[in-house]
Amino acid sequence: MTSPSAASSIESRYRATHDRLARVGQAHLLTFWDRLDEREREGLLAQCDALPLETIQREIASWTTEATFEKPSGSALEPARVVGSSPPDANRYRSIGEQMIRDGRVACFTVAGGQGTRLGWEGPKGTFGATPLLNKSLFEVFAESILAARRRWRGEIRWYLMTSPQNHHATQEFFRQHRWFQLGEETVRFFEQGTLPSLSHDGKILLSSQGSIALNPDGHGGAVRALAASGSLAEMKRLGIDTISYFQVDNPLVSAVDPLFLGLHLEHPESSAEVSSKAVAKRDAGERVGVFCRRDQRTMVVEYSDLPAELATAQNADGSLVHGAGSIAIHAISRAFLERVASDGSGLPLHKAFKKVPCVDLASGLIVQPTQPNAVKMEAFIFDALPIAERSLVFETRREEEFAPIKNADGEDSAATSRSAQSQRAVRWLEASGVVVQRDARGLCAAIIELSPLTALDASELRGRGDLPKSIAVDARIAL
Ligand code: UTP
Repeated sequence: MTSPSAASSIESRYRATHDRLARVGQAHLLTFWDRLDEREREGLLAQCDALPLETIQREIASWTTEATFEKPSGSALEPARVVGSSPPDANRYRSIGEQMIRDGRVACFTVAGGQGTRLGWEGPKGTFGATPLLNKSLFEVFAESILAARRRWRGEIRWYLMTSPQNHHATQEFFRQHRWFQLGEETVRFFEQGTLPSLSHDGKILLSSQGSIALNPDGHGGAVRALAASGSLAEMKRLGIDTISYFQVDNPLVSAVDPLFLGLHLEHPESSAEVSSKAVAKRDAGERVGVFCRRDQRTMVVEYSDLPAELATAQNADGSLVHGAGSIAIHAISRAFLERVASDGSGLPLHKAFKKVPCVDLASGLIVQPTQPNAVKMEAFIFDALPIAERSLVFETRREEEFAPIKNADGEDSAATSRSAQSQRAVRWLEASGVVVQRDARGLCAAIIELSPLTALDASELRGRGDLPKSIAVDARIAL
Protein backbone atom coordinates (compact mmCIF):
# COMPACT_ATOMS: atom_id res chain seq x y z
CA MET A 1 0.00 0.00 0.00
CA THR A 2 1.18 3.53 -0.74
CA SER A 3 2.17 5.44 2.39
CA PRO A 4 0.60 8.88 2.92
CA SER A 5 3.99 10.61 2.55
CA ALA A 6 4.72 8.78 -0.74
CA ALA A 7 1.27 9.75 -2.01
CA SER A 8 1.80 13.40 -1.14
CA SER A 9 5.26 13.37 -2.71
CA ILE A 10 3.97 12.02 -6.02
CA GLU A 11 1.09 14.51 -5.93
CA SER A 12 3.50 17.40 -5.42
CA ARG A 13 5.73 16.10 -8.23
CA TYR A 14 2.60 15.86 -10.38
CA ARG A 15 1.75 19.50 -9.68
CA ALA A 16 5.32 20.69 -10.40
CA THR A 17 5.43 18.72 -13.65
CA HIS A 18 1.98 19.89 -14.64
CA ASP A 19 3.00 23.54 -14.14
CA ARG A 20 6.19 23.09 -16.12
CA LEU A 21 4.32 21.41 -19.00
CA ALA A 22 1.48 23.93 -18.90
CA ARG A 23 3.94 26.80 -19.36
CA VAL A 24 4.92 25.33 -22.75
CA GLY A 25 1.47 24.13 -23.80
CA GLN A 26 2.11 20.42 -23.19
CA ALA A 27 0.00 19.71 -20.06
CA HIS A 28 -2.20 17.33 -22.09
CA LEU A 29 0.48 14.69 -21.44
CA LEU A 30 -1.08 14.27 -18.00
CA THR A 31 -4.67 13.95 -19.29
CA PHE A 32 -5.03 10.36 -18.07
CA TRP A 33 -3.28 10.79 -14.72
CA ASP A 34 -6.31 9.68 -12.74
CA ARG A 35 -6.52 6.39 -14.66
CA LEU A 36 -2.86 5.41 -14.09
CA ASP A 37 -1.58 3.11 -11.37
CA GLU A 38 1.35 4.09 -9.21
CA ARG A 39 4.01 2.50 -11.42
CA GLU A 40 2.60 4.12 -14.54
CA ARG A 41 2.52 7.49 -12.81
CA GLU A 42 6.18 7.16 -11.81
CA GLY A 43 7.06 6.19 -15.36
CA LEU A 44 5.18 9.08 -16.93
CA LEU A 45 6.66 11.64 -14.54
CA ALA A 46 10.16 10.33 -15.30
CA GLN A 47 9.50 10.64 -19.03
CA CYS A 48 8.14 14.17 -18.64
CA ASP A 49 11.11 15.20 -16.50
CA ALA A 50 13.52 13.93 -19.14
CA LEU A 51 11.91 15.90 -21.99
CA PRO A 52 14.22 18.57 -23.42
CA LEU A 53 11.37 21.09 -23.35
CA GLU A 54 13.48 24.08 -24.33
CA THR A 55 14.81 22.35 -27.44
CA ILE A 56 11.32 21.20 -28.36
CA GLN A 57 9.90 24.70 -27.93
CA ARG A 58 12.68 26.16 -30.05
CA GLU A 59 11.93 23.65 -32.80
CA ILE A 60 8.21 24.27 -32.75
CA ALA A 61 8.78 28.02 -32.83
CA SER A 62 10.96 27.60 -35.89
CA TRP A 63 8.13 25.80 -37.76
CA THR A 64 6.18 29.02 -37.84
CA THR A 65 8.94 30.76 -39.76
CA GLU A 66 8.71 30.09 -43.46
CA ALA A 67 12.25 28.74 -43.73
CA THR A 68 11.60 25.63 -41.67
CA PHE A 69 10.46 23.16 -44.25
CA GLU A 70 11.99 25.04 -47.12
CA LYS A 71 14.66 23.19 -49.05
CA PRO A 72 18.09 24.81 -49.30
CA SER A 73 18.13 26.97 -52.42
CA GLY A 74 21.18 25.20 -53.76
CA SER A 75 22.41 28.40 -55.39
CA ALA A 76 25.61 28.50 -53.38
CA LEU A 77 26.22 24.77 -53.42
CA GLU A 78 29.33 23.52 -55.16
CA PRO A 79 30.48 19.94 -55.52
CA ALA A 80 32.78 18.79 -52.74
CA ARG A 81 36.49 18.34 -53.40
CA VAL A 82 37.13 14.62 -53.38
CA VAL A 83 40.41 12.76 -52.89
CA GLY A 84 40.47 9.90 -55.42
CA SER A 85 40.68 6.25 -54.44
CA SER A 86 44.39 5.88 -55.31
CA PRO A 87 45.91 9.01 -53.81
CA PRO A 88 49.58 9.84 -54.40
CA ASP A 89 51.61 8.77 -51.40
CA ALA A 90 49.05 6.12 -50.44
CA ASN A 91 51.72 3.93 -48.87
CA ARG A 92 52.94 6.73 -46.65
CA TYR A 93 49.39 7.47 -45.44
CA ARG A 94 48.74 3.77 -44.90
CA SER A 95 51.85 3.49 -42.72
CA ILE A 96 50.72 6.49 -40.70
CA GLY A 97 47.35 4.81 -40.12
CA GLU A 98 48.98 1.52 -39.14
CA GLN A 99 51.16 3.33 -36.64
CA MET A 100 48.05 5.03 -35.17
CA ILE A 101 46.51 1.57 -34.65
CA ARG A 102 49.69 0.14 -33.12
CA ASP A 103 49.86 3.11 -30.77
CA GLY A 104 46.33 2.37 -29.52
CA ARG A 105 44.98 5.69 -30.76
CA VAL A 106 42.02 4.24 -32.71
CA ALA A 107 38.63 2.95 -31.50
CA CYS A 108 35.73 1.64 -33.56
CA PHE A 109 32.30 3.13 -33.08
CA THR A 110 29.05 1.66 -34.42
CA VAL A 111 25.75 3.47 -34.34
CA ALA A 112 23.22 0.73 -33.69
CA GLY A 113 20.30 2.56 -32.14
CA GLY A 114 18.10 2.80 -35.24
CA GLN A 115 14.64 1.26 -35.41
CA GLY A 116 15.31 -0.64 -38.65
CA THR A 117 11.68 -0.29 -39.71
CA ARG A 118 12.39 -0.88 -43.40
CA LEU A 119 14.07 -4.23 -42.74
CA GLY A 120 11.32 -5.27 -40.38
CA TRP A 121 13.57 -7.56 -38.30
CA GLU A 122 12.47 -8.39 -34.77
CA GLY A 123 15.37 -7.42 -32.57
CA PRO A 124 18.41 -5.19 -32.92
CA LYS A 125 19.47 -4.86 -36.56
CA GLY A 126 23.02 -5.94 -35.72
CA THR A 127 21.69 -9.39 -34.81
CA PHE A 128 20.40 -9.90 -38.36
CA GLY A 129 22.01 -12.80 -40.27
CA ALA A 130 23.90 -11.09 -43.10
CA THR A 131 26.55 -13.33 -44.63
CA PRO A 132 26.02 -15.39 -47.80
CA LEU A 133 26.50 -18.94 -46.46
CA LEU A 134 26.93 -19.06 -42.69
CA ASN A 135 24.37 -16.34 -42.04
CA LYS A 136 26.61 -14.64 -39.48
CA SER A 137 25.11 -11.62 -37.82
CA LEU A 138 26.21 -8.11 -38.71
CA PHE A 139 27.67 -7.76 -35.22
CA GLU A 140 29.75 -10.91 -35.73
CA VAL A 141 31.13 -9.65 -39.04
CA PHE A 142 32.25 -6.36 -37.44
CA ALA A 143 33.67 -8.20 -34.43
CA GLU A 144 35.73 -10.43 -36.73
CA SER A 145 37.01 -7.37 -38.58
CA ILE A 146 38.11 -5.75 -35.35
CA LEU A 147 39.71 -8.94 -34.07
CA ALA A 148 41.55 -9.42 -37.36
CA ALA A 149 42.73 -5.80 -37.34
CA ARG A 150 44.03 -6.18 -33.79
CA ARG A 151 46.01 -9.24 -34.82
CA ARG A 152 47.31 -7.81 -38.07
CA TRP A 153 48.45 -4.45 -36.76
CA ARG A 154 49.05 -5.51 -33.15
CA GLY A 155 47.08 -2.70 -31.59
CA GLU A 156 44.44 -2.38 -28.90
CA ILE A 157 41.20 -1.52 -30.67
CA ARG A 158 38.19 -0.91 -28.48
CA TRP A 159 34.65 -1.04 -29.79
CA TYR A 160 31.93 1.41 -28.74
CA LEU A 161 28.33 0.74 -29.70
CA MET A 162 25.46 3.17 -29.42
CA THR A 163 22.13 1.52 -28.73
CA SER A 164 18.68 2.96 -28.04
CA PRO A 165 16.44 2.42 -25.01
CA GLN A 166 14.42 0.03 -27.23
CA ASN A 167 17.31 -2.29 -28.11
CA HIS A 168 19.96 -1.74 -25.43
CA HIS A 169 19.32 -4.84 -23.34
CA ALA A 170 18.73 -7.12 -26.31
CA THR A 171 22.01 -5.94 -27.86
CA GLN A 172 24.02 -6.52 -24.71
CA GLU A 173 22.40 -9.91 -24.23
CA PHE A 174 23.31 -10.94 -27.79
CA PHE A 175 26.96 -10.11 -27.14
CA ARG A 176 26.87 -11.96 -23.83
CA GLN A 177 25.41 -15.06 -25.50
CA HIS A 178 28.19 -14.93 -28.08
CA ARG A 179 30.85 -14.31 -25.43
CA TRP A 180 31.67 -10.92 -26.96
CA PHE A 181 32.87 -12.70 -30.10
CA GLN A 182 36.28 -13.29 -28.49
CA LEU A 183 36.98 -9.59 -28.29
CA GLY A 184 37.06 -9.47 -24.49
CA GLU A 185 34.09 -8.09 -22.61
CA GLU A 186 36.11 -5.23 -21.16
CA THR A 187 36.98 -3.92 -24.64
CA VAL A 188 33.37 -3.57 -25.83
CA ARG A 189 31.28 -0.73 -24.44
CA PHE A 190 27.58 -0.09 -25.00
CA PHE A 191 25.73 3.10 -24.24
CA GLU A 192 22.24 4.36 -24.95
CA GLN A 193 21.39 7.29 -27.12
CA GLY A 194 18.79 9.87 -26.18
CA THR A 195 15.20 10.09 -27.36
CA LEU A 196 12.92 12.82 -28.63
CA PRO A 197 9.14 12.88 -28.64
CA SER A 198 6.99 12.70 -31.76
CA LEU A 199 4.84 15.78 -32.22
CA SER A 200 1.51 16.43 -33.87
CA HIS A 201 1.52 18.90 -36.75
CA ASP A 202 0.51 21.64 -34.33
CA GLY A 203 3.41 20.94 -32.01
CA LYS A 204 1.72 18.82 -29.33
CA ILE A 205 3.77 15.95 -27.93
CA LEU A 206 2.04 12.62 -28.63
CA LEU A 207 1.25 9.86 -26.15
CA SER A 208 1.88 6.25 -27.22
CA SER A 209 -0.36 5.02 -24.39
CA GLN A 210 -2.25 6.78 -21.65
CA GLY A 211 0.81 6.59 -19.42
CA SER A 212 3.71 6.99 -21.85
CA ILE A 213 5.06 9.47 -24.36
CA ALA A 214 5.67 8.53 -28.01
CA LEU A 215 9.48 8.67 -28.10
CA ASN A 216 11.93 7.85 -30.86
CA PRO A 217 15.73 7.62 -30.81
CA ASP A 218 17.24 11.05 -31.50
CA GLY A 219 19.08 10.02 -34.69
CA HIS A 220 22.68 8.98 -35.34
CA GLY A 221 23.61 12.60 -34.64
CA GLY A 222 22.53 11.85 -31.07
CA ALA A 223 25.89 10.08 -30.89
CA VAL A 224 27.69 13.33 -30.15
CA ARG A 225 25.76 13.96 -26.96
CA ALA A 226 25.57 10.29 -25.99
CA LEU A 227 29.31 9.70 -26.42
CA ALA A 228 29.94 12.60 -24.05
CA ALA A 229 27.12 11.90 -21.59
CA SER A 230 28.00 8.20 -21.26
CA GLY A 231 31.58 9.03 -20.31
CA SER A 232 32.87 7.32 -23.45
CA LEU A 233 34.81 10.36 -24.66
CA ALA A 234 36.36 10.76 -21.23
CA GLU A 235 37.30 7.08 -21.20
CA MET A 236 38.87 7.39 -24.64
CA LYS A 237 40.90 10.37 -23.49
CA ARG A 238 42.14 8.45 -20.48
CA LEU A 239 43.17 5.54 -22.71
CA GLY A 240 44.96 7.72 -25.25
CA ILE A 241 42.37 7.13 -28.00
CA ASP A 242 42.17 10.19 -30.24
CA THR A 243 40.55 8.90 -33.43
CA ILE A 244 37.21 7.18 -33.91
CA SER A 245 36.42 4.90 -36.83
CA TYR A 246 32.67 5.46 -37.26
CA PHE A 247 30.35 3.13 -39.18
CA GLN A 248 26.72 2.08 -39.32
CA VAL A 249 25.29 -1.23 -38.25
CA ASP A 250 23.96 -2.22 -41.66
CA ASN A 251 26.99 -2.49 -43.97
CA PRO A 252 28.84 -5.82 -43.76
CA LEU A 253 31.39 -4.72 -46.40
CA VAL A 254 32.70 -1.90 -44.23
CA SER A 255 36.38 -1.86 -43.48
CA ALA A 256 35.98 -1.31 -39.74
CA VAL A 257 39.56 -0.14 -39.39
CA ASP A 258 41.17 1.24 -42.55
CA PRO A 259 44.77 2.43 -42.09
CA LEU A 260 44.83 4.34 -45.40
CA PHE A 261 41.71 6.30 -44.49
CA LEU A 262 43.00 6.95 -40.97
CA GLY A 263 46.34 8.20 -42.30
CA LEU A 264 44.63 10.49 -44.82
CA HIS A 265 42.35 11.81 -42.09
CA LEU A 266 45.32 12.64 -39.87
CA GLU A 267 47.77 14.09 -42.35
CA HIS A 268 46.28 14.92 -45.75
CA PRO A 269 46.37 18.66 -46.56
CA GLU A 270 42.62 18.61 -47.33
CA SER A 271 41.93 17.41 -43.79
CA SER A 272 42.02 19.31 -40.52
CA ALA A 273 41.98 15.89 -38.83
CA GLU A 274 38.59 16.67 -37.30
CA VAL A 275 36.09 14.66 -39.35
CA SER A 276 36.69 12.84 -42.64
CA SER A 277 34.31 10.81 -44.77
CA LYS A 278 34.25 8.09 -47.38
CA ALA A 279 32.23 8.56 -50.56
CA VAL A 280 31.24 6.38 -53.51
CA ALA A 281 30.14 7.52 -56.96
CA LYS A 282 26.36 7.68 -57.02
CA ARG A 283 24.81 4.93 -59.16
CA ASP A 284 22.62 7.48 -60.91
CA ALA A 285 21.06 10.87 -60.27
CA GLY A 286 18.08 9.29 -58.52
CA GLU A 287 19.96 7.20 -55.98
CA ARG A 288 18.68 8.04 -52.52
CA VAL A 289 21.94 8.87 -50.75
CA GLY A 290 23.18 12.19 -49.43
CA VAL A 291 25.88 13.91 -51.49
CA PHE A 292 28.98 15.77 -50.44
CA CYS A 293 28.84 19.45 -51.37
CA ARG A 294 30.64 22.65 -50.43
CA ARG A 295 29.15 25.89 -49.29
CA ASP A 296 31.05 28.89 -47.88
CA GLN A 297 34.33 26.94 -48.00
CA ARG A 298 32.87 24.19 -45.82
CA THR A 299 32.13 20.58 -46.69
CA MET A 300 28.64 19.31 -46.02
CA VAL A 301 26.26 16.47 -46.86
CA VAL A 302 23.03 17.43 -48.56
CA GLU A 303 20.29 14.83 -48.23
CA TYR A 304 18.92 13.43 -51.48
CA SER A 305 15.52 14.91 -50.71
CA ASP A 306 17.05 18.38 -50.25
CA LEU A 307 19.17 18.47 -53.40
CA PRO A 308 17.33 20.46 -56.08
CA ALA A 309 16.63 18.32 -59.16
CA GLU A 310 18.69 20.54 -61.47
CA LEU A 311 21.74 19.98 -59.27
CA ALA A 312 21.06 16.26 -58.76
CA THR A 313 20.99 15.66 -62.51
CA ALA A 314 23.72 18.13 -63.61
CA GLN A 315 26.50 16.39 -65.55
CA ASN A 316 30.16 17.07 -66.26
CA ALA A 317 31.46 17.02 -69.84
CA ASP A 318 32.33 13.32 -69.47
CA GLY A 319 28.76 12.44 -68.43
CA SER A 320 29.54 11.92 -64.75
CA LEU A 321 27.35 13.63 -62.16
CA VAL A 322 28.56 17.04 -60.94
CA HIS A 323 27.17 16.22 -57.49
CA GLY A 324 28.07 12.55 -57.65
CA ALA A 325 29.97 11.90 -54.41
CA GLY A 326 27.49 9.84 -52.41
CA SER A 327 27.82 9.54 -48.64
CA ILE A 328 28.15 6.00 -47.24
CA ALA A 329 28.21 7.07 -43.60
CA ILE A 330 31.77 6.02 -42.87
CA HIS A 331 33.81 8.61 -41.03
CA ALA A 332 37.04 9.09 -39.15
CA ILE A 333 36.40 11.54 -36.34
CA SER A 334 38.73 13.09 -33.83
CA ARG A 335 37.80 12.70 -30.20
CA ALA A 336 38.80 16.29 -29.44
CA PHE A 337 36.50 17.53 -32.21
CA LEU A 338 33.55 15.62 -30.72
CA GLU A 339 34.35 17.01 -27.29
CA ARG A 340 34.19 20.51 -28.78
CA VAL A 341 30.90 19.88 -30.63
CA ALA A 342 29.36 18.23 -27.56
CA SER A 343 30.32 21.06 -25.24
CA ASP A 344 28.74 23.67 -27.51
CA GLY A 345 25.24 23.59 -25.99
CA SER A 346 23.43 24.21 -29.29
CA GLY A 347 24.02 20.64 -30.49
CA LEU A 348 23.47 19.45 -34.06
CA PRO A 349 20.37 20.72 -35.87
CA LEU A 350 17.23 18.61 -35.83
CA HIS A 351 15.69 17.34 -39.05
CA LYS A 352 11.98 16.71 -39.31
CA ALA A 353 10.30 13.78 -40.99
CA PHE A 354 6.57 13.18 -41.36
CA LYS A 355 5.73 9.68 -40.18
CA LYS A 356 2.82 7.51 -39.17
CA VAL A 357 2.98 7.24 -35.39
CA PRO A 358 0.30 5.34 -33.45
CA CYS A 359 -0.88 7.61 -30.66
CA VAL A 360 -3.59 8.14 -28.08
CA ASP A 361 -6.65 10.15 -29.01
CA LEU A 362 -7.02 12.57 -26.10
CA ALA A 363 -10.81 12.65 -26.26
CA SER A 364 -11.44 8.89 -26.18
CA GLY A 365 -8.22 7.62 -24.65
CA LEU A 366 -8.00 5.02 -27.43
CA ILE A 367 -4.91 4.32 -29.53
CA VAL A 368 -5.27 5.47 -33.12
CA GLN A 369 -3.39 3.69 -35.94
CA PRO A 370 -2.90 6.44 -38.52
CA THR A 371 -3.24 5.73 -42.23
CA GLN A 372 -1.51 8.97 -43.21
CA PRO A 373 1.60 10.58 -41.68
CA ASN A 374 0.24 12.26 -38.56
CA ALA A 375 3.41 13.12 -36.71
CA VAL A 376 6.67 14.99 -36.91
CA LYS A 377 9.70 12.98 -35.80
CA MET A 378 12.90 14.86 -35.05
CA GLU A 379 16.38 13.44 -35.54
CA ALA A 380 19.94 14.74 -35.58
CA PHE A 381 22.36 13.52 -38.27
CA ILE A 382 26.05 12.93 -37.64
CA PHE A 383 27.03 14.43 -40.98
CA ASP A 384 25.86 17.84 -39.77
CA ALA A 385 29.13 17.89 -37.85
CA LEU A 386 31.07 18.19 -41.14
CA PRO A 387 30.64 21.94 -41.72
CA ILE A 388 31.78 22.59 -38.16
CA ALA A 389 35.21 21.27 -39.14
CA GLU A 390 37.65 23.70 -40.63
CA ARG A 391 38.58 21.35 -43.47
CA SER A 392 36.83 18.04 -43.97
CA LEU A 393 38.36 15.41 -46.21
CA VAL A 394 36.18 13.34 -48.55
CA PHE A 395 37.89 10.17 -49.77
CA GLU A 396 36.41 8.28 -52.69
CA THR A 397 36.28 4.53 -52.42
CA ARG A 398 34.84 1.77 -54.58
CA ARG A 399 31.28 0.78 -53.84
CA GLU A 400 31.79 -2.90 -54.68
CA GLU A 401 34.64 -3.06 -52.16
CA GLU A 402 33.09 -1.25 -49.21
CA PHE A 403 29.39 -0.61 -49.39
CA ALA A 404 26.53 -3.11 -49.50
CA PRO A 405 24.05 -1.99 -46.85
CA ILE A 406 21.07 -4.00 -45.68
CA LYS A 407 18.26 -1.48 -45.43
CA ASN A 408 15.22 -3.16 -46.95
CA ALA A 409 13.49 -6.53 -46.63
CA ASP A 410 13.75 -7.03 -50.41
CA GLY A 411 14.75 -5.26 -53.61
CA GLU A 412 17.56 -2.72 -53.59
CA ASP A 413 19.87 -2.61 -50.55
CA SER A 414 18.43 -5.80 -49.10
CA ALA A 415 20.03 -8.89 -47.56
CA ALA A 416 19.96 -10.55 -51.02
CA THR A 417 21.87 -7.75 -52.76
CA SER A 418 24.32 -7.45 -49.87
CA ARG A 419 25.04 -11.21 -49.75
CA SER A 420 25.65 -11.22 -53.48
CA ALA A 421 28.02 -8.22 -53.18
CA GLN A 422 29.90 -9.96 -50.33
CA SER A 423 30.32 -13.11 -52.41
CA GLN A 424 31.36 -11.20 -55.54
CA ARG A 425 33.99 -9.30 -53.60
CA ALA A 426 35.38 -12.59 -52.27
CA VAL A 427 35.51 -13.94 -55.82
CA ARG A 428 37.41 -10.87 -57.03
CA TRP A 429 39.92 -11.14 -54.19
CA LEU A 430 40.43 -14.86 -54.89
CA GLU A 431 40.98 -14.23 -58.58
CA ALA A 432 43.45 -11.48 -57.74
CA SER A 433 45.26 -14.10 -55.62
CA GLY A 434 45.62 -16.44 -58.59
CA VAL A 435 42.72 -18.77 -57.78
CA VAL A 436 40.84 -19.93 -60.90
CA VAL A 437 37.15 -19.26 -60.48
CA GLN A 438 35.12 -21.14 -63.06
CA ARG A 439 32.37 -19.30 -64.85
CA ASP A 440 29.37 -20.40 -66.88
CA ALA A 441 28.96 -19.96 -70.64
CA ARG A 442 27.88 -16.35 -70.11
CA GLY A 443 30.99 -15.62 -68.09
CA LEU A 444 29.03 -15.41 -64.84
CA CYS A 445 30.18 -16.92 -61.57
CA ALA A 446 27.45 -18.87 -59.79
CA ALA A 447 29.69 -19.92 -56.92
CA ILE A 448 28.86 -18.49 -53.51
CA ILE A 449 31.91 -17.65 -51.44
CA GLU A 450 31.93 -16.40 -47.90
CA LEU A 451 35.20 -14.90 -46.77
CA SER A 452 35.69 -14.17 -43.11
CA PRO A 453 37.59 -11.02 -42.14
CA LEU A 454 39.64 -13.39 -39.98
CA THR A 455 40.88 -15.03 -43.18
CA ALA A 456 41.74 -11.77 -44.90
CA LEU A 457 40.91 -8.12 -44.40
CA ASP A 458 41.75 -7.18 -47.97
CA ALA A 459 42.90 -8.63 -51.28
CA SER A 460 46.57 -8.16 -50.50
CA GLU A 461 46.28 -10.12 -47.26
CA LEU A 462 44.47 -12.93 -49.06
CA ARG A 463 47.21 -13.08 -51.69
CA GLY A 464 49.73 -13.71 -48.95
CA ARG A 465 48.00 -16.86 -47.70
CA GLY A 466 49.39 -20.21 -48.73
CA ASP A 467 46.24 -22.24 -48.07
CA LEU A 468 43.90 -21.13 -50.84
CA PRO A 469 42.20 -23.63 -53.17
CA LYS A 470 43.67 -23.79 -56.69
CA SER A 471 40.30 -23.42 -58.35
CA ILE A 472 36.65 -22.93 -57.48
CA ALA A 473 33.93 -24.89 -59.26
CA VAL A 474 31.13 -23.07 -60.97
CA ASP A 475 28.55 -24.16 -58.40
CA ALA A 476 30.81 -24.15 -55.32
CA ARG A 477 29.58 -23.09 -51.90
CA ILE A 478 32.69 -22.30 -49.87
CA ALA A 479 33.27 -20.49 -46.59
CA LEU A 480 36.86 -19.45 -46.09
P1 UTP B 1 18.95 4.45 -40.87
O1 UTP B 1 18.86 5.82 -41.36
O2 UTP B 1 19.12 3.38 -41.90
O3 UTP B 1 17.72 4.17 -39.95
O4 UTP B 1 20.15 4.37 -39.84
P2 UTP B 1 17.23 2.85 -39.21
O5 UTP B 1 16.47 3.34 -38.03
O6 UTP B 1 18.35 1.89 -38.94
O7 UTP B 1 16.28 2.14 -40.25
P3 UTP B 1 14.84 2.59 -40.78
O8 UTP B 1 15.03 3.93 -41.45
O9 UTP B 1 13.92 2.62 -39.59
O10 UTP B 1 14.49 1.50 -41.75
C1 UTP B 1 21.47 4.46 -40.24
C2 UTP B 1 22.36 4.06 -39.06
O11 UTP B 1 22.16 4.95 -37.99
C3 UTP B 1 21.78 4.24 -36.82
C4 UTP B 1 21.19 2.95 -37.33
O12 UTP B 1 21.23 1.95 -36.34
C5 UTP B 1 22.06 2.67 -38.52
O13 UTP B 1 23.30 2.10 -38.11
N1 UTP B 1 20.83 5.06 -36.06
C6 UTP B 1 19.78 5.63 -36.69
C7 UTP B 1 21.03 5.21 -34.71
O14 UTP B 1 21.99 4.67 -34.13
N2 UTP B 1 20.12 5.95 -34.01
C8 UTP B 1 19.07 6.55 -34.60
O15 UTP B 1 18.29 7.23 -33.89
C9 UTP B 1 18.88 6.39 -35.97
